Amino acid sequence: MKPADTQATLSFSNGRPSIDLPVYGGSIGPDVIDIRKLYAQTGMFTYDPGFLSTASCQSSITYIDGDKGELLYRGYPIEQLATHCDFLETCHLLLYSTLPDVAGKADFVKRVTNHTMVNEQMQFFLRGFRRDAHPMAIMTGLVGALSAFYHDSTDIHNPEHRDISAIRLIAKMPTLVAMAYKYSAGQPYMYPRNSLSYAGNFLHMMFANPCEEYVVNPVLERALDRIFILHADHEQNASTSTVRLCGSSGTNPFAAIAAGVACLWGPAHGGANEACLNMLEDIQKMGGVAKVGEFMNQVKDKNSGVKLMGFGHRVYKNYDPRAKLMQETCREVLVALGLENDPLFKLAMALEKIALEDDYFVQRKLYPNVDFYSGIVQRAIGIPTSLFTAVFALARTVGWIAQLNEMIGDPEYKIGRPRQLFTGSTQRDVLPISQR
Ligand code: ACO
Repeated sequence: MKPADTQATLSFSNGRPSIDLPVYGGSIGPDVIDIRKLYAQTGMFTYDPGFLSTASCQSSITYIDGDKGELLYRGYPIEQLATHCDFLETCHLLLYSTLPDVAGKADFVKRVTNHTMVNEQMQFFLRGFRRDAHPMAIMTGLVGALSAFYHDSTDIHNPEHRDISAIRLIAKMPTLVAMAYKYSAGQPYMYPRNSLSYAGNFLHMMFANPCEEYVVNPVLERALDRIFILHADHEQNASTSTVRLCGSSGTNPFAAIAAGVACLWGPAHGGANEACLNMLEDIQKMGGVAKVGEFMNQVKDKNSGVKLMGFGHRVYKNYDPRAKLMQETCREVLVALGLENDPLFKLAMALEKIALEDDYFVQRKLYPNVDFYSGIVQRAIGIPTSLFTAVFALARTVGWIAQLNEMIGDPEYKIGRPRQLFTGSTQRDVLPISQR
């Protein structure tokens, strides 16, 4: 880290001597005040639940400017990556910092496709789940279980183990998500087809069956690939921070990624795409576009507990750039499938228009996030709503593993161990049970 020109001076109103704290600058974005010695110097902690002002690490992978609505992977704008690259090129970029050339891409694609199958034993493990189990419950279990199958790559401190685990995770996630889907549908699992693209193979494993030939629709293949690119990384979000914290104990990469899957499940994070589509379907049942005003009144009523899912973001206080790209993809997919008049798409457009003009949303800088349109695209492709978050997990796996590997390779890396402001009872004695 390079020192910034300034130092921060912390002074106290009670006469305690002030202290100077180093300030560091990144390549872009806010500077940080280094408080690591604060406790040693003052006996005090900082307090920042929800990490509103706390940088938990240094990272050179992804940068977001929430006010501008800008997202860069290793310096490249998301719009350019989504237009000129495919998902595996993006994976290469996130993992190794460079976009591959032709030979590098061919090599990387070969390495990933070599690992698309999962151990045959995995299907017996899957059978232990109820058929109606939520796919994210299944994915949490299956991803964690990978550590039991790959004993040769569980040492997080070995760079070769980290690399092969990264490749295995990226290669096997589509297979596991498709297996979870086929299991719930009562259909036979389809083995991966390594002649297909990453997205094409996923479509094949999801929608092919052993009785008929399945032809991958190139528009859907490209749409899915774009969904993967847009979800590939998003700096220190809740699930990525979970992966880093979990991995900081030295646990194996599969266990750390399983923790990320579990965190992503929540409706305030990756579960929002499922929640958003459910919301659109509920409004549609209530009467559709005609009921948008009534629904918005509920959203604005703090006592209702209703949120406009797919809107708002901790970091973006402007349009989420991924939402714009997703809206474009959404149109393309609906046109390709002859669904231009899809009522849920129309409803989403009506909700977005009203929200963007409404004072409640304008004042709070609430804009559509990526999940607002991704659910409509996935539904049009034929992916069931309950699987949306698992598709998100599939795409985010590369980001999680790139961030985990960056952390382990950082000389400043330590086990994560937050502090607390204790507000409970001071020491007291246990009374015999008869006197309590
Ligand atoms: N609908 C209605 N009001 C909202 C929404 C929303 N979607 N999002 C935020 N607000 C309101 C809050 O009630 C709050 O109002 P107040 O200041 O009057 O109390 C204000 O806007 C600020 O919101 P916070 O909850 O403080 O913002 P925070 O940064 O903590 O939350 C979050 C961000 C969790 C994403 C939130 O906007 C939300 O719940 N959105 C809906 C869920 C969603 O779409 N999540 C996906 C996130 S993107 C991703 O994971 C890919």
